[in-house]
Amino acid sequence: MSGQRIGTVADIPPGEARRFEVDGLPIAVVRIDDDFYAIGDVCTHQDISLSEGEVLAEERQIECWKHGSAFSLETGQPSSLPATRPVPVFDVRREGDDLFVEVRHA
Ligand code: FES
Repeated sequence: MSGQRIGTVADIPPGEARRFEVDGLPIAVVRIDDDFYAIGDVCTHQDISLSEGEVLAEERQIECWKHGSAFSLETGQPSSLPATRPVPVFDVRREGDDLFVEVRHA
């Protein structure tokens, strides 16, 4: 068993994001239908919480509310300025109704 349990699927409504702390790192966990994604919660442009932004379900992205950079939930790469650097991407796993996020330290 690896990863930290962050909660249950019911904690994150479809199409929304929630912020969690895993190993001291702020993580945005995003739900699109029954798919879950976990990325670093801090925009790489300024210190803004991405989980407060809008989930773009079709594009599998989340948009920073401050200046509109959208980050891929699959790669962490921004697809639009002003952010130019990616956010980290983490493994998120579902076991029954429980969600686990794994943070690997380099
Ligand atoms: S703070 Fe996120 S795009 Fe500027």
